[in-house]
Amino acid sequence: MTILVTGATGAVGRHLVRALLDHDQDVRALTRDPARAALPAAVTLVSGDFADSASLSDAVFAGVDRAFVFPGDGVAAFVDAATRAGVERFTVLSSLAAAKEFPRDEGSASQLHHAAIEQAVTTRTDAWTILRPGTFANNLLTWAWPIKNGWPIRAPYAASAQAPIHEADVADAAAASLLSDEWIGQAIPLTGPQALTRTEQVAAIAAGIGRELELVEISPEEFRAEVAQFVPAPIIDMLLDYWRDTLTEPDRVRPVTPLTGRPGRTLAEWARDHRADFAADAT
Ligand SMILES: NC(=O)c1ccc[n+]([C@@H]2O[C@H](COP(=O)([O-])OP(=O)(O)OC[C@H]3O[C@@H](n4cnc5c(N)ncnc54)[C@H](OP(=O)(O)O)[C@@H]3O)[C@@H](O)[C@H]2O)c1
Repeated sequence: MTILVTGATGAVGRHLVRALLDHDQDVRALTRDPARAALPAAVTLVSGDFADSASLSDAVFAGVDRAFVFPGDGVAAFVDAATRAGVERFTVLSSLAAAKEFPRDEGSASQLHHAAIEQAVTTRTDAWTILRPGTFANNLLTWAWPIKNGWPIRAPYAASAQAPIHEADVADAAAASLLSDEWIGQAIPLTGPQALTRTEQVAAIAAGIGRELELVEISPEEFRAEVAQFVPAPIIDMLLDYWRDTLTEPDRVRPVTPLTGRPGRTLAEWARDHRADFAADAT
């Protein structure tokens, strides 16, 4: 079977490519810059940009059976071109925010974006599976800078509890959904295997990278002031709402196990896999 992976050079996509190759699938990877893709030699690279529908030529889709859809703007044109070319099945990367389980999700940047992505797919084909992961463990790479400099981590809502998911588990779930008929028509919430307070998250990272780490709790206002020049205000609002809510209602765990057949990777495993990102000489 030939499977087209969009977002193939990203954190989830690289693991998905590997997982599909391990299942002896023919993998085609869409990227805006094949010269920089650095994917395994067994992968067929195709050039394409969601933002430029003319780039989604027949060559991108010829012979493709199924596709993994990265949630980029321009998905509607992508799915139009893919279905015209005969692609039969789609697994879509979305977000738990699209499920609108909490008042904070309604109208949030993530809910609006991912709801539009989901709609663009489900209005064009019935052969979809939607993956709705909660917060990615990779978001904790924002702590890499203080950690590699030996500084304390500064974060608000230290007692709030989230269940960060390893990008490899999102990829394994995507591979499973692409390779089985069991998940068609389902929107599947996914999280990491444990809800951990932010204090426990720091401890898990410390265990994973084998270093002692310190967490200093700061106020939401201090956090806003410290990140305002790097992070757009709607994203700061979304993060603070999430952490505030998960003080009293920790993330509910949505195991990947039904798809992947094994427990999700722990946060300490994630940190170990990302040891290089936290190393003192990492840029
Ligand atoms: N962070 C979270 O907590 C969270 C939670 C739930 C869902 N999500 C979703 O997961 C996504 C991040 O996944 P990730 O970490 O795997 O992504 P990533 O590492 O940031 O990689 C982005 C990928 O998207 C591709 N891409 C970007 N713009 C493109 C375009 N115009 N046309 C074609 N390809 C394009 C890039 O490919 P090239 O550069 O090779 O073209 C790259 O492979 C978020 O954007 C969000 O939608 C995130």
